[in-house]
Amino acid sequence: MMPQPSSMLLLISSLLAALPATSASGLYTKNSPVLQLNQQTYNQLIANSNHTSIVEFYAPWCGHCQNLKPAYEKVAKNLEGLAKVAAVNCDDDANKPFCGQMGIQGFPTLKIVTASKQLGRPLVEDYRGARSAKAIADAVAERIPNHVKRLTDKNLDGWLSENEALPKAILFTNKGTTSALIRALAVDFLGGIKFAQIRNKETEAVEKFGVKQFPTLILLPGDGKEPITYDGELKKKPMVEFLSQAAAPNPDPAPAKAKSRSVDNRAEKLKPTESPDPQVVPEDAKEAKPAQVLVQAPDIDTLPTVEALEAACLTPKSGTCILALLPEQKEADTDFPGPVKEALRSLSEIAHKHSQRKSNLFPFYSVPAINTGAQTLRDGLGLPADENAVIIVLNGRRGWWSRYDPSKSGDFGIAPVEAWIDAIRLGEGSKEKLPDGILVVKGEPEKEPEESVEESVEDGSVEEESAEESPKQEKEHDEL
Ligand SMILES: *[C@@H]1O[C@H](CO)[C@@H](O)[C@H](O)[C@H]1NC(C)=O
Repeated sequence: MMPQPSSMLLLISSLLAALPATSASGLYTKNSPVLQLNQQTYNQLIANSNHTSIVEFYAPWCGHCQNLKPAYEKVAKNLEGLAKVAAVNCDDDANKPFCGQMGIQGFPTLKIVTASKQLGRPLVEDYRGARSAKAIADAVAERIPNHVKRLTDKNLDGWLSENEALPKAILFTNKGTTSALIRALAVDFLGGIKFAQIRNKETEAVEKFGVKQFPTLILLPGDGKEPITYDGELKKKPMVEFLSQAAAPNPDPAPAKAKSRSVDNRAEKLKPTESPDPQVVPEDAKEAKPAQVLVQAPDIDTLPTVEALEAACLTPKSGTCILALLPEQKEADTDFPGPVKEALRSLSEIAHKHSQRKSNLFPFYSVPAINTGAQTLRDGLGLPADENAVIIVLNGRRGWWSRYDPSKSGDFGIAPVEAWIDAIRLGEGSKEKLPDGILVVKGEPEKEPEESVEESVEDGSVEEESAEESPKQEKEHDEL
């Protein structure tokens, strides 16, 4: 028997009710410590900030997003004043084009946004770590830029005599690391107050300023004025107030300038991405997006597990791979982020440059220390276990490898890393034979790099190839 029209209607309306409402209210309430964003506020508060942020792209109906909420709000509370913790509701129609442009393919997606040298063109990288409050907060804190100079007895005087009129702040501490708090303060006063940190064992400096206990923050207001010692709580807010007597903190967001690059307007005029194919979204977006909105240089792919590392780079059929082996993360305020961040940034910018030019390039991956394969590789290649970031290149098929030597050029900056990569592309530079036992011979790898791609790369030619595709790691995601 056919259902009665009225019950049919009832059925339809209950079906509709079960569908996610497109203008559904977000997961986070007004009082939540999580900053809620749309594209425009993202540009103002995140992309144009000197501070580090984490942004969650979510849909209210997604179970993993709901599960993440308590931890994420905890992260927001813990990082208050140190970094921004924000969320974008991608289920809101108004945000859909933006989420498409950001290449969001599943919920939740967490992206850490770090200021680069060019304001409005931050570095955006996917956070792929554990979804616990501590793991997330640590990853964000670690990326708070470090504008705090570490001084010793030897270089203190030199630093003091630089820009003598400029106010300076010195933290005397018994820690060897630079805390998230002092780094965040230095960001607040970027351009206004120069920050340094001196360890308790630098006895001449300690005596010079009569420091009796650690930590002690001393403000040198500049122009030969007497140093002032801070005696309040070691909390962001009172410390900002104290330092403000020498220079005003940077307003954040920066006040809109009449003739500033109109990031927001341009962003709003963008055509929404129409392609339903999530694979196509980031590519399209790359072309269409104004530079500022975009993921300028998307972070390089991570190989989180031994299996992923082996499949991508360690088979006898593997082509050239660049691997950034990251050091172990100990605590939120370790100081390794400097070179590590620089190395990753250089690699992602170089990869991005090549992908924009559509020139063919072998893949770059980062390998976290928790990937036990990284340790095996370090051991096998005779690399120090506890070193900072190490960038290596290897080719399983041809059985060679080589290491980028930051000491030659001094750093992991783009120029020297790119020169090294260019030399590899041209088949130049020193190579060593891969020791036995590095490659994994057992079984057939699931995915192999295409041979032809590899050949053309090494000949230095720049054919178009889809060399960029890399095995995607399955994540705990509700797919879109
Ligand atoms: C960012 O830092 C620069 C100095 O490097 C400063 O001039 C600018 O005002 C800061 N912007 C914000 C939004 O804090």
